[in-house]
Order: sequence, then C-alpha cells, then structure tokens
Amino acid sequence: MVDDAMLQRLVDAAREARGYAHAPYSKFAVGAALLDEQGRVHAGCNIENAAYAECLCAEAVALAHLVMAGGRRVIAAAVAGVAPKPVTPCGGCRQKLREFAEDDATIVVADMDAVRLTTTLGTLLPWSFGTGHLR
Ligand code: THU
Repeated sequence: MVDDAMLQRLVDAAREARGYAHAPYSKFAVGAALLDEQGRVHAGCNIENAAYAECLCAEAVALAHLVMAGGRRVIAAAVAGVAPKPVTPCGGCRQKLREFAEDDATIVVADMDAVRLTTTLGTLLPWSFGTGHLR
C-alpha cells in the first residue's frame, strides 16, 4: 500500500508536469505522475499536435519516462487536470497503464486545489485484457 505522503508527492509531481503541457488546440492541460517499483516518480504532460490524431496523453508520456528509466511496474499514479468532473485517465491510457500495473494500483485524480477522486486501476478498467491472456 502506498502511504499518503507518497500519494501527495505524486499529486505534486502531476501538477508540476501539467505546467509543461503542449495543448494549443484543446487548451486542456493535463499532468501525470507514476510511482515505479523502485520508489521513483516519473512525470508527463499531454503533447498535442497539429495532426490531431497524433496527440499524446500525459499518462502515456509519463509511462514512456518510466520505461526509459528502467522502471517495469506502475505502483500508483496521479493525474492532474481542471474540469467540472475529475480528469480520469482516458480508456486508452487505462489500458496502457494496465500493461505495467496490477488491479490494486492506486489512481489519484486531482485538480490544482484538491484531490477529486482516489480509486484503483481495477475499478477504472474492470475485467481488463492483459498479458495473462496471451499465455
Ligand atoms: N488528456 C490527457 O492527457 N490525459 C487524460 O487522461 C485525458 C485527456 C489530454 C488529451 C488531449 O491533449 C487533451 O487532454 C484533451 O482531450
């Protein structure tokens, strides 16, 4: 289980990462931060593109940082965004996280003022398809 101090660290990192967002089209800045199995934090922001379909979500960018740093597991994640509803990971990012995370991985969704939702990957993506199906 990840303690509250670490979850706060993840939220802080996600909020900071949000400041780097390249979102000139949607104007919707998102930051994400992931805790790996070595206790390290990896952050990302959304990176949009004039060819809209090529946009990268913040979670995907954070995941790329985690993997390139030698991380292999996602223990917990934070997402930071500002909207009327909590900015939960999109469906594609839930699946991307699923590749490296267990169902019990904590997902914290925050805006710039407060945590809006604390849940798990298994709740966001129940009955998911994963590497276990390919054996
Ligand atoms: N976005 C993310 O980066 N993560 C999410 O979890 C939801 C959506 C981005 C994609 C796009 O750049 C912008 O938010 C609007 O959809």
